[in-house]
Amino acid sequence: MNLEQLEQIAKEGIALAQDAQSLEQWRIQYLGRKSALSLFFNSLSKLSLQERKTQGEKANKIHKLLKNLYIIKKDEIEKGANELNKGSSNFLDITQPGDKKTQGHLHPLTLVSRDIIASFEKMGFSIIEGPEIEKEYYNFDALNIPADHPAREMWDTLWIKPTSKKQKSKTLLRTHTSPMQVRFMEKNQPPFRIIVPGRCFRYEATDSSHEIQFYQIEGLMVGEDINLSNFKAIISEIIKDIFKDNVSVRFRPSFFPFVSPGVEVDIRQELKGDKSNNNWLEIMGAGMVHPALFKRVGYENNRWQGFAFGLGVERIAMIKYKIDDIRLFFNPDIRFLEQF
Ligand code: DAH
Repeated sequence: MNLEQLEQIAKEGIALAQDAQSLEQWRIQYLGRKSALSLFFNSLSKLSLQERKTQGEKANKIHKLLKNLYIIKKDEIEKGANELNKGSSNFLDITQPGDKKTQGHLHPLTLVSRDIIASFEKMGFSIIEGPEIEKEYYNFDALNIPADHPAREMWDTLWIKPTSKKQKSKTLLRTHTSPMQVRFMEKNQPPFRIIVPGRCFRYEATDSSHEIQFYQIEGLMVGEDINLSNFKAIISEIIKDIFKDNVSVRFRPSFFPFVSPGVEVDIRQELKGDKSNNNWLEIMGAGMVHPALFKRVGYENNRWQGFAFGLGVERIAMIKYKIDDIRLFFNPDIRFLEQF
């Protein structure tokens, strides 16, 4: 057995191995149990003590060398295979950092609306919806605002072009949710308590407190002996529920053609230790339903009384989240939306 020759052939062989399969064949041939080297080790006992020592040492050295060559080559082949695989879809690089999936969330106006609606539900109010495209009659006339009435100027209106000359009544984008008062009463008998959340539109120049679209929540409670102090009690409770205690409520006399008397409701956030705060903010119009509306829907004379209110959802959201520009709600700027 020529050990030098064996070493030489083995080295040439491993240089030719290009993949795992040919390397394994090489391993079996030169390091396997039946390899020339193994057989040589087995036959060592037949040699003289002196020969056994020198030949044995030599064979051991070669065995070690071939084993190292094998380990290095194996590593090379594996690395190369990974490089090749990187571009392919079944390559999984477990050393890559994690990829967090972000999730969207509800719009701040939706969050606030849901809060307000939930508060009213706790007080036994039902939720009713009405059309955004409304008849002139329900938006104005039925609410004591005839065409020639100066109060119409309180609502800058987006009118809708008639679809034909035959169309009898004019249509518009509702300027408030109040038209649902008469629509609902035409079909329902008291006693009842309802709220009507919905989008409204005004033909308006926009600024930090005016938008051409906004949300209102209309309320209407009618019964045999409902009065303004019932309204005051309910609305104070609702506001407490929405703002969690730290606000004051005040009523101011006001005018709306469909209520008498009419009021405006202001709230003020009470900041701890700040006695000078005079920052009252108007959040709704309200009042006792005008008897002409009951008459219009055919209710029994003098039997029913009720209160109505129209609450601005953006106003509440602006106070709650300390937002100073209403236009932000309708501008899809992710930096704004991400705060909620
Ligand atoms: N609809 C009125 C508006 O948009 C607000 C309002 C005032 C509603 C008084 C009411 C009410 O129900 O009683 O300006």
